[in-house]
Amino acid sequence: MGESSQVGLYERPAAPDGIIVERMRDDHLPGVLRIEQESYSTPWSREGFTKELENFPTTVAIVARRERVVVGYVVAWFVTEEAHIGNVAVAREARQQGIGRVMLEWLLERAVAHGCTCATLEVRESNLAARRLYERLSFRSVGRRRAYYMKPSEDAIVMVRELA
Ligand SMILES: CC(C)(COP(=O)(O)OP(=O)(O)OC[C@H]1O[C@@H](n2cnc3c(N)ncnc32)[C@H](O)[C@@H]1OP(=O)(O)O)[C@@H](O)C(=O)NCCC(=O)NCCS
Repeated sequence: MGESSQVGLYERPAAPDGIIVERMRDDHLPGVLRIEQESYSTPWSREGFTKELENFPTTVAIVARRERVVVGYVVAWFVTEEAHIGNVAVAREARQQGIGRVMLEWLLERAVAHGCTCATLEVRESNLAARRLYERLSFRSVGRRRAYYMKPSEDAIVMVRELA
């Protein structure tokens, strides 16, 4: 049985042309920070990412790249049986090409191999693109954290995906 069928993902389309997914390294950080800054009103700092890279294996950080250009990344924490997804972003010019989906599928496969039984995340209520991505990967909404985000203040929707 292949890894993708083990986690019961919806029918798996091929990775977008030329996309390689691999673990995040220090030399990816300039590309990662460019995407982080264009994606969020309160971006993580370089130190924030460096700290996460030093926190392996609890932190699992990956990038998607096309040739040498970083076009997306995910940072997650595998803690006991839970994979918590903390950050997902794709470069503006590379969105809606399936890169977010491919990175999360990669991560969920590793989470299963690690023994995680569920994946969790928070998402801004108004972030319909991200919510659509997570729903396509069978995450469901299970709760709300009031005023979880700043700049602007907004509720988070808590989403969970079982990984049995
Ligand atoms: C959210 C984000 C990571 C999606 O990445 P992406 O690579 O564009 O997503 P994909 O191309 O893999 O799309 C996956 C699904 O989401 C849908 N989707 C993606 N962007 C969408 C948009 N703007 N509007 C509607 N649906 C969208 C796709 O159509 C696809 O669904 P489908 O299979 O039914 O067609 C990207 O928009 C992004 O980086 N946003 C800024 C950072 C952010 O908000 N991160 C999430 C924080 S919780």
